[in-house]
Amino acid sequence: MTPESHSLTGTDDPRSGPPPGCPAHGLGPGGLRRLYGPDAENLDELYEELRDEHGPVAPALLHDDVPMWVVLGHAENLHMLRSPSQFCRDSRIWNPLLEGMVKPDHPLMPHIAWEPICSYAEGDEHLRLRGAVTGAMSTIDHRGIRRYINRSTQRLVNEFCEQGRADLVGQFAEHLPMAVMCEILGMPEEYNDRMVQATRDMLRGTETAIASHGYVMGALQRLTERRRAEPAADFASQLMSHPARLTDDEVTKHLWVVLMAAYEATANLIANVLRMVLTDPRFRAQLKGGQMTVPEAVEQSLWDEPPFSTVFAYYAKQDTELGGRRIRKGDGLLFGIAPGNVDPRVRPDLAANMQGNRSHLAFGGGPHECPGQDIARGIADVGVDALLMRLPDVRLDCDEEELSWRQSIASRHLVDLPVRFEPKPQQDVTMAPSLNQVPAPRPAWQVSTAPRPLPQPAPPPAAPQPAPAPEPPRKPGAWRRLVRWWKGY
Ligand code: HEM
Repeated sequence: MTPESHSLTGTDDPRSGPPPGCPAHGLGPGGLRRLYGPDAENLDELYEELRDEHGPVAPALLHDDVPMWVVLGHAENLHMLRSPSQFCRDSRIWNPLLEGMVKPDHPLMPHIAWEPICSYAEGDEHLRLRGAVTGAMSTIDHRGIRRYINRSTQRLVNEFCEQGRADLVGQFAEHLPMAVMCEILGMPEEYNDRMVQATRDMLRGTETAIASHGYVMGALQRLTERRRAEPAADFASQLMSHPARLTDDEVTKHLWVVLMAAYEATANLIANVLRMVLTDPRFRAQLKGGQMTVPEAVEQSLWDEPPFSTVFAYYAKQDTELGGRRIRKGDGLLFGIAPGNVDPRVRPDLAANMQGNRSHLAFGGGPHECPGQDIARGIADVGVDALLMRLPDVRLDCDEEELSWRQSIASRHLVDLPVRFEPKPQQDVTMAPSLNQVPAPRPAWQVSTAPRPLPQPAPPPAAPQPAPAPEPPRKPGAWRRLVRWWKGY
C-alpha cells in the first residue's frame, strides 16, 4: 500500500504509534495490525479481528512493517484471482520492493523473489509454461497412480504396523506424497528418508536449508539430464517433449515447482484429515452415522484447515477497487485462503457440514488455479482410506490438547500425530497391482455430493494377504468401507 492507503484507517500520521496505555499498544505504524510477532501468534483470530475492524479487505503489516492488504472475503478473493487484468503475481511491480522497504534478508523473500516459472508468469508466457505442466499432467495414468498410492500406503504401514503405535505425521503424512510425486515425476529411486528430510528442512528454513535445497535440486537436475538423453513414460519426459519447448533450466524449475507445490500441501492435507477423523466429535458422529465418506472428509478439511493458509501474494497492476477499498497500482495483496474459507457471508455456521461442497479457496482460482488438485485429492483419498482399512482400531495416543502446530503466514503444519492400535502383521505389497483394492476415483468437478446410499451390512473382514486370483475382488463401496473401518472390522 502507498502511504495514502494508510489514511483509510483514519490515522492521519501513518508513522505515529498509539499513546502509552492505549489498548492499541503493540500495533504498528498507522495503527495497523502486524501479521508477525507476539500479537500474531494466532493468525486465525487476528484475521477475524481484521475482518471486524475493516471488512473483507484489510490493511496490515508484514515483517519490518511492510504494508500489505489482507483479502479476507471469499468473493473478494475470487474476484482478485479471476481478474488478471487488474492483479498479477509478479512481485517486480510491488511498491515496497521498488522503494527498498523490503530488505534482501526479509523472512518472506523466498515467497517474494520473482522467478521465470508459471506461478509468477502472466499472459502468453503463463499459458506457455502452464500449458506444458498441464499437458504433462494430462498424460498421467490416474488409475495406475491410485494403485501406486495404495501400494505406497501399504509399504509405509508395514514399517510400523507390528509395533502397535506410530506418529502418523512423521511416519505417514510426510512420506506418502513424496513417494507418489517421485514416481509421477519419473525418479522413484530418489524417494527415501533423505529426500523427505531435505525437503522438510528446506521448507522450514533451518540452517541446513541451503544444503538441502542443493540436494533436492541435484536430484531434479539429474532427472532432467537423464530424460533429455533417454525419454521415458513419465512427467519429466512429457514436460520436455511438450510443444512449448521448455529449456532444460525451465524443465528443472518446473519439476521443482510441482514437487514443492505438491509435497508440503498434500502432507498437510493428509495430516489434517487424519487428525479430524481421530479427534473431532462432529466427524466421528457423521462417519459413524454413515453421513460422510473419506472424500467428503477431505473436502471438509480443505474448508476448515486449508493446507496453504494464504498465498503470498498478488499485486495490483493499476489503481482499482476491491471490497470497497481503494487499491493503488503496485500495492500487494495477500490471497487469504483460510480467512476466505470462513467468511461469514458464505459460512454463517462454521459447524455446518459442507457436504462435499468444493467451492472453498484451498486450490485457488482463476488462471493460476492449482492444476494438481485431482492428484492431491487422489493421494489424500486413497492414502487415508487405505490406512484406516489397515488400522481399523487406530486411536489418538495423547490428549488432543497436547497436539501442536508449526505456523507460518503460509501454512499451519501439525507437528506430530501419535496413535495406538493393536499390532498387525505386515502385508504383502508385491502382489499384482490389479489385486490391490483401490477406491474409485471421484467424479470430476463434483460440486456437491449425490444422495447417500442406505446403510449396507458390513462385509466380512478382509484377509491381510489376499491370495492371487484371476479377477480382482469386488470392491465394497466407499460408504461400506468406511463403516467397516468405523466398526473396527
Ligand atoms: C492439497 C494439496 C494442494 C494444495 C492445497 C494446492 C494449492 C494450490 C494453490 C492455492 C495454488 C494457486 C496459487 C496462486 O494463486 O498462485 C496452486 C498452484 C499450483 N499447484 Fe497446487 N496445491 C496442491 C497440490 C498440488 C499438486 C499435487 C500439484 C502437482 C502435481 C500441484 C501443482 C501446482 C502448480 C504447478 C501450481 C502453479 C499453477 C500456476 O501458477 O499456473 N499442486 N496450488
